[in-house]
Amino acid sequence: ATPFAADALSGAVPYGAAIRIDELADILYSEAVRTYCKVIVAEGAMKWSDLQAVRGSFTFEPTDTLLAFAQDNDIELRGHTLAWYAALPEWAERISSAEEARTELVHHIDTVVGRYKGRIRSWDVVNEAIAEDPTPDAPYRDSVWLRHLGPDYIELALRTASEADSSAQLVLNDYEFEQPTDQARAKRKAFLDMVRGLKSRNVPLHAIGLQGHLRGESAVDSPGISSFVAELSALGLGILVTELDVIDDQLPGPIEERDKLIAARAREFLSAIGSVVRPEIVVTWGVSDQHTWVPIWFSRQDGLPNRPLPLDENYQPKELMRVIQDF
Ligand code: G3I
Repeated sequence: ATPFAADALSGAVPYGAAIRIDELADILYSEAVRTYCKVIVAEGAMKWSDLQAVRGSFTFEPTDTLLAFAQDNDIELRGHTLAWYAALPEWAERISSAEEARTELVHHIDTVVGRYKGRIRSWDVVNEAIAEDPTPDAPYRDSVWLRHLGPDYIELALRTASEADSSAQLVLNDYEFEQPTDQARAKRKAFLDMVRGLKSRNVPLHAIGLQGHLRGESAVDSPGISSFVAELSALGLGILVTELDVIDDQLPGPIEERDKLIAARAREFLSAIGSVVRPEIVVTWGVSDQHTWVPIWFSRQDGLPNRPLPLDENYQPKELMRVIQDF
Protein backbone atom coordinates (compact mmCIF):
# COMPACT_ATOMS: atom_id res chain seq x y z
CA ALA A 1 0.00 0.00 0.00
CA THR A 2 1.33 3.46 -0.68
CA PRO A 3 0.38 6.67 1.14
CA PHE A 4 -0.75 8.57 -1.89
CA ALA A 5 -2.69 7.76 -5.01
CA ALA A 6 -0.60 6.81 -8.04
CA ASP A 7 -2.13 9.81 -9.79
CA ALA A 8 -0.16 12.01 -7.38
CA LEU A 9 2.36 12.27 -10.17
CA SER A 10 0.19 12.84 -13.17
CA GLY A 11 1.76 16.29 -13.45
CA ALA A 12 3.55 17.35 -16.62
CA VAL A 13 7.04 17.40 -15.10
CA PRO A 14 8.67 13.94 -14.87
CA TYR A 15 9.40 13.16 -11.20
CA GLY A 16 12.19 11.00 -9.90
CA ALA A 17 14.54 10.21 -7.05
CA ALA A 18 18.09 9.30 -6.12
CA ILE A 19 18.32 5.55 -5.74
CA ARG A 20 20.33 3.29 -3.45
CA ILE A 21 20.83 0.19 -5.53
CA ASP A 22 20.97 -2.17 -2.55
CA GLU A 23 17.55 -0.87 -1.43
CA LEU A 24 15.95 -2.10 -4.66
CA ALA A 25 15.88 -5.56 -3.05
CA ASP A 26 13.19 -4.12 -0.72
CA ILE A 27 9.90 -4.73 -2.54
CA LEU A 28 8.22 -1.62 -1.04
CA TYR A 29 11.14 0.53 -2.13
CA SER A 30 11.34 -0.85 -5.66
CA GLU A 31 7.54 -0.67 -5.98
CA ALA A 32 7.61 3.04 -5.01
CA VAL A 33 10.35 3.69 -7.57
CA ARG A 34 8.47 1.82 -10.31
CA THR A 35 5.20 3.56 -9.49
CA TYR A 36 6.31 7.16 -9.09
CA CYS A 37 9.65 7.65 -10.81
CA LYS A 38 10.06 8.55 -14.45
CA VAL A 39 13.72 9.39 -13.93
CA ILE A 40 16.26 8.08 -11.43
CA VAL A 41 19.88 8.77 -10.50
CA ALA A 42 22.34 6.67 -8.50
CA GLU A 43 22.95 8.28 -5.10
CA GLY A 44 26.49 6.94 -5.08
CA ALA A 45 27.20 4.16 -7.58
CA MET A 46 28.34 6.41 -10.41
CA LYS A 47 30.85 8.48 -8.47
CA TRP A 48 34.59 7.95 -8.89
CA SER A 49 34.94 6.14 -5.55
CA ASP A 50 32.41 3.55 -6.68
CA LEU A 51 33.19 3.35 -10.40
CA GLN A 52 37.01 3.45 -10.32
CA ALA A 53 38.07 2.66 -6.75
CA VAL A 54 41.29 1.20 -8.13
CA ARG A 55 43.04 3.15 -10.87
CA GLY A 56 42.21 1.65 -14.26
CA SER A 57 39.82 -0.93 -12.84
CA PHE A 58 36.13 -0.01 -13.34
CA THR A 59 33.22 -1.50 -11.37
CA PHE A 60 30.20 -1.27 -13.66
CA GLU A 61 27.98 -4.09 -12.37
CA PRO A 62 25.90 -1.96 -9.95
CA THR A 63 25.32 0.71 -12.60
CA ASP A 64 24.56 -1.93 -15.23
CA THR A 65 22.00 -3.42 -12.80
CA LEU A 66 20.42 -0.01 -12.19
CA LEU A 67 20.32 0.74 -15.92
CA ALA A 68 18.65 -2.62 -16.61
CA PHE A 69 16.07 -1.90 -13.87
CA ALA A 70 15.43 1.54 -15.38
CA GLN A 71 15.09 0.20 -18.93
CA ASP A 72 12.82 -2.68 -17.79
CA ASN A 73 10.53 -0.12 -16.14
CA ASP A 74 10.60 2.61 -18.80
CA ILE A 75 12.50 4.92 -16.45
CA GLU A 76 15.36 7.22 -17.47
CA LEU A 77 18.67 6.86 -15.59
CA ARG A 78 20.70 10.08 -15.24
CA GLY A 79 24.49 9.97 -14.78
CA HIS A 80 25.92 11.55 -11.60
CA THR A 81 28.77 12.62 -11.64
CA LEU A 82 31.85 12.76 -13.89
CA ALA A 83 33.94 15.44 -12.15
CA TRP A 84 33.57 16.48 -8.50
CA TYR A 85 35.79 17.49 -5.59
CA ALA A 86 34.29 14.70 -3.41
CA ALA A 87 33.81 10.92 -3.51
CA LEU A 88 37.25 10.46 -5.07
CA PRO A 89 39.27 7.30 -4.39
CA GLU A 90 42.58 7.76 -2.56
CA TRP A 91 44.63 7.30 -5.73
CA ALA A 92 42.77 10.14 -7.46
CA GLU A 93 43.15 12.45 -4.47
CA ARG A 94 46.90 11.85 -4.78
CA ILE A 95 47.09 12.93 -8.45
CA SER A 96 50.10 15.23 -8.46
CA SER A 97 50.51 16.89 -11.87
CA ALA A 98 48.50 18.61 -14.58
CA GLU A 99 49.41 15.87 -17.06
CA GLU A 100 48.22 13.11 -14.69
CA ALA A 101 45.02 15.02 -13.87
CA ARG A 102 44.24 15.54 -17.53
CA THR A 103 45.00 11.91 -18.45
CA GLU A 104 42.87 10.48 -15.63
CA LEU A 105 39.94 12.89 -16.03
CA VAL A 106 39.75 12.23 -19.80
CA HIS A 107 40.16 8.47 -19.35
CA HIS A 108 37.41 8.28 -16.70
CA ILE A 109 34.92 10.30 -18.72
CA ASP A 110 35.79 8.53 -22.01
CA THR A 111 35.35 5.11 -20.38
CA VAL A 112 32.16 5.83 -18.42
CA VAL A 113 30.26 7.98 -20.94
CA GLY A 114 31.45 5.74 -23.78
CA ARG A 115 30.09 2.62 -22.05
CA TYR A 116 26.61 4.10 -21.67
CA LYS A 117 26.54 6.01 -24.95
CA GLY A 118 22.95 6.38 -26.15
CA ARG A 119 21.62 4.70 -22.97
CA ILE A 120 22.28 7.45 -20.39
CA ARG A 121 20.89 10.62 -21.95
CA SER A 122 21.84 13.23 -19.34
CA TRP A 123 25.04 13.63 -17.32
CA ASP A 124 26.01 15.80 -14.38
CA VAL A 125 29.38 16.38 -16.00
CA VAL A 126 30.76 18.69 -13.30
CA ASN A 127 29.19 18.77 -9.84
CA GLU A 128 29.59 21.79 -7.53
CA ALA A 129 32.26 23.66 -9.50
CA ILE A 130 31.63 26.95 -7.67
CA ALA A 131 33.05 27.67 -4.20
CA GLU A 132 30.64 27.73 -1.25
CA ASP A 133 31.66 31.34 -0.62
CA PRO A 134 32.99 32.56 -3.99
CA THR A 135 34.96 35.80 -4.37
CA PRO A 136 35.73 37.58 -7.65
CA ASP A 137 39.29 36.27 -7.67
CA ALA A 138 38.46 32.80 -6.27
CA PRO A 139 35.07 31.71 -7.64
CA TYR A 140 35.85 28.01 -8.05
CA ARG A 141 35.63 25.22 -5.48
CA ASP A 142 38.93 23.59 -4.53
CA SER A 143 39.48 20.11 -5.96
CA VAL A 144 42.28 17.96 -7.27
CA TRP A 145 41.08 19.02 -10.76
CA LEU A 146 41.18 22.76 -10.04
CA ARG A 147 44.56 22.51 -8.31
CA HIS A 148 46.24 20.87 -11.30
CA LEU A 149 44.27 22.13 -14.29
CA GLY A 150 42.70 25.38 -13.11
CA PRO A 151 39.09 26.11 -14.14
CA ASP A 152 39.86 24.74 -17.60
CA TYR A 153 39.08 21.29 -16.13
CA ILE A 154 35.41 22.24 -16.48
CA GLU A 155 35.73 22.83 -20.24
CA LEU A 156 37.88 19.71 -20.58
CA ALA A 157 35.25 17.57 -18.82
CA LEU A 158 32.42 18.99 -20.95
CA ARG A 159 34.30 18.62 -24.25
CA THR A 160 35.43 15.07 -23.36
CA ALA A 161 31.87 14.03 -22.46
CA SER A 162 30.58 15.56 -25.69
CA GLU A 163 33.15 13.66 -27.75
CA ALA A 164 32.28 10.41 -25.91
CA ASP A 165 28.54 10.83 -26.60
CA SER A 166 27.52 13.71 -28.85
CA SER A 167 23.84 13.02 -28.15
CA ALA A 168 24.15 13.37 -24.35
CA GLN A 169 22.68 16.29 -22.43
CA LEU A 170 25.63 17.87 -20.58
CA VAL A 171 24.76 19.44 -17.24
CA LEU A 172 26.52 21.54 -14.60
CA ASN A 173 24.97 20.76 -11.21
CA ASP A 174 25.21 22.88 -8.05
CA TYR A 175 23.39 23.87 -4.86
CA GLU A 176 22.28 26.64 -2.49
CA PHE A 177 21.41 29.18 -5.17
CA GLU A 178 18.03 29.67 -3.51
CA GLN A 179 19.12 30.80 -0.07
CA PRO A 180 18.27 34.40 0.99
CA THR A 181 21.93 35.18 1.73
CA ASP A 182 24.79 37.27 0.32
CA GLN A 183 26.66 33.99 -0.17
CA ALA A 184 23.91 32.60 -2.40
CA ARG A 185 23.83 35.87 -4.37
CA ALA A 186 27.60 35.64 -4.87
CA LYS A 187 27.27 31.99 -5.88
CA ARG A 188 24.59 32.80 -8.48
CA LYS A 189 26.82 35.53 -9.95
CA ALA A 190 29.94 33.33 -10.03
CA PHE A 191 27.98 30.49 -11.61
CA LEU A 192 26.52 32.78 -14.28
CA ASP A 193 29.95 34.25 -15.05
CA MET A 194 31.32 30.70 -15.46
CA VAL A 195 28.47 29.65 -17.73
CA ARG A 196 28.71 32.81 -19.87
CA GLY A 197 32.42 32.16 -20.32
CA LEU A 198 31.83 28.57 -21.38
CA LYS A 199 29.06 29.54 -23.82
CA SER A 200 31.24 32.34 -25.27
CA ARG A 201 33.86 29.68 -26.06
CA ASN A 202 31.22 27.38 -27.58
CA VAL A 203 31.89 24.74 -24.94
CA PRO A 204 29.16 22.06 -25.19
CA LEU A 205 26.73 22.66 -22.28
CA HIS A 206 22.98 22.05 -22.44
CA ALA A 207 21.40 22.40 -19.02
CA ILE A 208 21.87 23.41 -15.40
CA GLY A 209 21.03 21.22 -12.40
CA LEU A 210 19.64 23.11 -9.41
CA GLN A 211 20.08 20.61 -6.62
CA GLY A 212 17.47 22.17 -4.35
CA HIS A 213 18.64 21.00 -0.91
CA LEU A 214 16.30 23.47 0.75
CA ARG A 215 16.49 24.64 4.35
CA GLY A 216 13.54 24.31 6.71
CA GLU A 217 14.48 27.40 8.68
CA SER A 218 14.74 29.86 5.82
CA ALA A 219 12.39 30.78 3.00
CA VAL A 220 13.57 30.60 -0.58
CA ASP A 221 14.89 33.80 -2.24
CA SER A 222 12.21 33.61 -4.94
CA PRO A 223 13.20 36.81 -6.84
CA GLY A 224 16.84 35.67 -6.73
CA ILE A 225 16.03 32.24 -8.11
CA SER A 226 13.61 33.56 -10.74
CA SER A 227 16.14 36.04 -12.15
CA PHE A 228 18.90 33.42 -12.01
CA VAL A 229 16.80 30.93 -13.95
CA ALA A 230 15.75 33.64 -16.43
CA GLU A 231 19.43 34.45 -17.15
CA LEU A 232 20.28 30.77 -17.60
CA SER A 233 17.29 30.24 -19.89
CA ALA A 234 18.30 33.30 -21.92
CA LEU A 235 21.61 31.50 -22.54
CA GLY A 236 19.64 28.62 -24.07
CA LEU A 237 20.13 26.30 -21.10
CA GLY A 238 17.57 23.81 -19.80
CA ILE A 239 16.73 23.75 -16.08
CA LEU A 240 16.67 20.56 -14.02
CA VAL A 241 15.77 20.20 -10.33
CA THR A 242 18.16 17.40 -9.43
CA GLU A 243 18.28 16.76 -5.65
CA LEU A 244 15.19 18.30 -4.04
CA ASP A 245 14.75 17.81 -0.30
CA VAL A 246 14.63 19.84 2.90
CA ILE A 247 17.83 19.10 4.75
CA ASP A 248 17.13 20.72 8.08
CA ASP A 249 16.03 17.84 10.26
CA GLN A 250 15.43 20.28 13.11
CA LEU A 251 11.99 20.79 11.60
CA PRO A 252 9.22 20.81 14.17
CA GLY A 253 7.65 17.39 14.56
CA PRO A 254 5.01 15.91 14.48
CA ILE A 255 5.19 14.59 10.98
CA GLU A 256 2.14 16.51 9.79
CA GLU A 257 3.73 19.87 10.70
CA ARG A 258 7.06 18.83 9.20
CA ASP A 259 5.31 17.59 6.09
CA LYS A 260 3.58 20.95 5.60
CA LEU A 261 6.80 22.93 6.05
CA ILE A 262 8.64 20.70 3.58
CA ALA A 263 5.83 21.20 1.10
CA ALA A 264 5.83 24.96 1.65
CA ARG A 265 9.55 25.22 0.98
CA ALA A 266 9.27 23.00 -2.12
CA ARG A 267 6.33 25.04 -3.41
CA GLU A 268 8.30 28.29 -2.99
CA PHE A 269 11.28 26.83 -4.82
CA LEU A 270 9.40 25.18 -7.68
CA SER A 271 7.11 28.21 -8.13
CA ALA A 272 10.10 30.58 -8.30
CA ILE A 273 11.55 28.43 -11.08
CA GLY A 274 8.22 27.66 -12.74
CA SER A 275 7.31 31.35 -12.96
CA VAL A 276 10.10 31.57 -15.56
CA VAL A 277 10.46 28.14 -17.13
CA ARG A 278 9.22 24.60 -16.55
CA PRO A 279 12.08 22.43 -15.27
CA GLU A 280 12.64 19.33 -17.37
CA ILE A 281 12.61 17.03 -14.30
CA VAL A 282 12.07 17.24 -10.55
CA VAL A 283 14.20 14.68 -8.69
CA THR A 284 14.18 14.31 -4.90
CA TRP A 285 17.37 13.21 -3.20
CA GLY A 286 15.98 9.97 -1.90
CA VAL A 287 12.73 8.10 -2.30
CA SER A 288 11.67 8.69 1.29
CA ASP A 289 12.66 10.12 4.64
CA GLN A 290 13.74 6.64 5.57
CA HIS A 291 16.44 6.79 2.90
CA THR A 292 17.64 10.32 3.35
CA TRP A 293 21.33 11.17 3.60
CA VAL A 294 20.63 13.95 6.11
CA PRO A 295 21.10 12.49 9.61
CA ILE A 296 24.19 10.53 8.61
CA TRP A 297 25.76 13.47 6.83
CA PHE A 298 25.01 16.20 9.34
CA SER A 299 25.49 14.13 12.44
CA ARG A 300 28.93 13.22 11.08
CA GLN A 301 29.70 16.91 10.72
CA ASP A 302 28.28 18.07 14.03
CA GLY A 303 29.27 14.95 15.91
CA LEU A 304 25.75 14.16 17.07
CA PRO A 305 24.65 10.52 16.91
CA ASN A 306 22.68 9.67 13.81
CA ARG A 307 19.18 10.99 14.44
CA PRO A 308 16.57 8.93 12.62
CA LEU A 309 14.23 11.40 10.97
CA PRO A 310 10.55 11.23 11.92
CA LEU A 311 9.42 8.64 9.43
CA ASP A 312 6.42 8.99 7.23
CA GLU A 313 5.04 5.69 5.93
CA ASN A 314 8.34 4.91 4.19
CA TYR A 315 7.66 7.33 1.38
CA GLN A 316 8.15 10.95 0.48
CA PRO A 317 6.03 13.31 2.63
CA LYS A 318 2.62 13.22 1.03
CA GLU A 319 2.35 16.99 0.82
CA LEU A 320 5.63 17.18 -1.07
CA MET A 321 4.35 14.82 -3.70
CA ARG A 322 1.17 16.88 -4.07
CA VAL A 323 3.29 20.00 -4.61
CA ILE A 324 5.21 18.22 -7.34
CA GLN A 325 1.99 16.98 -8.91
CA ASP A 326 0.38 20.44 -8.83
CA PHE A 327 3.54 21.99 -10.23
O1 G3I B 1 29.52 2.43 1.40
C1 G3I B 1 30.45 2.85 2.41
C2 G3I B 1 30.49 1.85 3.54
O2 G3I B 1 31.02 0.62 3.03
C3 G3I B 1 31.38 2.38 4.66
O3 G3I B 1 31.34 1.47 5.75
C4 G3I B 1 30.84 3.74 5.11
C5 G3I B 1 31.68 4.30 6.23
O4 G3I B 1 32.53 5.33 5.77
O5 G3I B 1 30.87 4.64 3.99
C6 G3I B 1 29.98 4.18 2.96
O6 G3I B 1 30.04 5.09 1.87
C7 G3I B 1 29.33 6.30 2.13
C8 G3I B 1 28.33 6.52 0.98
O7 G3I B 1 27.66 7.79 1.14
C9 G3I B 1 27.26 5.42 0.93
O8 G3I B 1 26.47 5.53 2.11
C10 G3I B 1 30.37 7.42 2.14
O9 G3I B 1 31.19 7.28 3.27
C11 G3I B 1 29.63 8.75 2.21
O10 G3I B 1 30.59 9.82 2.04
C12 G3I B 1 28.61 8.85 1.06
O11 G3I B 1 27.91 10.07 1.24
C13 G3I B 1 27.20 10.49 0.05
C14 G3I B 1 27.77 11.87 -0.36
O12 G3I B 1 27.01 12.39 -1.45
C15 G3I B 1 29.22 11.76 -0.81
O13 G3I B 1 29.28 10.96 -1.97
C16 G3I B 1 25.72 10.62 0.41
O14 G3I B 1 25.19 9.31 0.62
C17 G3I B 1 24.98 11.29 -0.74
O15 G3I B 1 23.62 11.54 -0.37
C18 G3I B 1 25.63 12.62 -1.09
O16 G3I B 1 24.98 13.14 -2.19
C19 G3I B 1 25.43 14.46 -2.61
C20 G3I B 1 25.36 14.51 -4.13
O17 G3I B 1 26.16 13.48 -4.68
C21 G3I B 1 25.81 15.88 -4.62
N1 G3I B 1 25.01 16.94 -4.00
C22 G3I B 1 25.01 16.91 -2.53
C23 G3I B 1 24.50 15.55 -2.05
C24 G3I B 1 24.41 15.52 -0.54
O18 G3I B 1 25.70 15.72 0.02
